[in-house]
Amino acid sequence: MSAPKKLYIKTYGCQMNVYDSERMAEALGGQGYVETATPDDADMILLNTCHIREKAAEKVYSELGRFKGLKAERPDLKIGVAGCVAQAEGEEIMRRQPMVDLVVGPQSYHRLPELEAKARGGEKALDTDFPEEDKFEHLKGRAKARRGPTAFLTVQEGCDKFCAFCVVPYTRGAEVSRPVARVVTEARDLVERGVREITLLGQNVNAYHGEGPQGGDWTLAQLIRELAEIDELKRIRFTTSHPNDMEDDLIAAHGDCEKLMPYLHLPVQSGSDFILKRMNRSHTAESYIRLIERIRAARPDILLSGDFIVGFPEETEAHFQETMALIETVGYGSAFSFKYSTRPGTPAAERAQVDPAEADDRLQRLQALITRQQRAAQDAMVGREVGVLFEKAGRNPGQMVGKSDHLHAVHVTTDKVSVGDLARVRITASGPNSLAGELV
Ligand code: 5AD
Ligand code: SF4
Repeated sequence: MSAPKKLYIKTYGCQMNVYDSERMAEALGGQGYVETATPDDADMILLNTCHIREKAAEKVYSELGRFKGLKAERPDLKIGVAGCVAQAEGEEIMRRQPMVDLVVGPQSYHRLPELEAKARGGEKALDTDFPEEDKFEHLKGRAKARRGPTAFLTVQEGCDKFCAFCVVPYTRGAEVSRPVARVVTEARDLVERGVREITLLGQNVNAYHGEGPQGGDWTLAQLIRELAEIDELKRIRFTTSHPNDMEDDLIAAHGDCEKLMPYLHLPVQSGSDFILKRMNRSHTAESYIRLIERIRAARPDILLSGDFIVGFPEETEAHFQETMALIETVGYGSAFSFKYSTRPGTPAAERAQVDPAEADDRLQRLQALITRQQRAAQDAMVGREVGVLFEKAGRNPGQMVGKSDHLHAVHVTTDKVSVGDLARVRITASGPNSLAGELV
């Protein structure tokens, strides 16, 4: 047998890219590749890219530039670009950076083995189609190796919402959901390999409408309840959701499905109705707040997280203050916030832009508020009893680290638990980035 070839994958962007990178590594595993942690000894380098904010493409070109020396030393080294920059730039990548052998868009990963063979044969390989077939179903040949206790599982891709700032509908295409049976099979496979917590992924995961076992589409709540039947699967999460797709059955599941964890990422982007309208969000600040009330009625201790954009075109200080007021009203457990970034080809790119210094200042003020709320939510856990799924040994001797039901990192000094165990823990202290506790 020949020695395995080495594959180095660098992943940018969201959790869906993390999942895709795993699937790509498995697909190339069938071609005799094993993963390596550094580009220096790789036979193939793959950059799995993100295009959500500006300068993404430029970053990819400068990263590629850094591999020039390696390619000169080892002409057999193959270099590929995957993900949303690959989708958006296509052939342009090979024109600007001729050392790139392979370009593959996020909907074509199942064709990687053929593309790799083509590249090995000295040809340029490019695929940025949106094929009909389920790319994951074709990504066979996955190793049955044991894995850690948590995993991502993509159930839905693409977006039909067309928020005025966002490239996702263009790079990932229209909303598509995977059939229930395939998701369940993949979940069972993960559980057999040691996984105890699955995070269901989708750009609009709560818009899930996958084909059910007897035909007819199932909702995300139905899928979650089906997955909850898998005995050894202890926890279920999902991300990312749109407020408009938060249906009654999903809200109810937060109240009565024990395995569904009390944490919800529900981006609102802005607290100003004027800006929300200009963003094409089709919900108001008020409707979002009412929705949060209904979710909290179903699950009072749920922790909420969100995404915010500051400095969206035409945003005034008054609009920004409405966003700050919404954050005060909701009270977040965590949040991601971004300065608006112009994406050519999206409607907002054409509009009057906010002064970048002003946008920076707003971002700082918003992040300070979120940090205070995050810390308060974490401190409020002290004295409470929570579930913790242990993921690894801690830095100090005898220490184990895991995630609480609410997604806080928790340190416990104990010799009574192993990686993959779920235990009840009483929280005793709250530090800057994590909690400490003791087994109950
Ligand atoms: N500029 C800034 N932030 C953006 N996001 C998406 N597009 C842009 C953009 N052009 C943010 C949104 C989204 C998150 C994934 O990224 O907040 O929810
Ligand atoms: Fe982008 Fe809006 Fe779709 Fe989210 S809902 S992926 S922000 S277009």
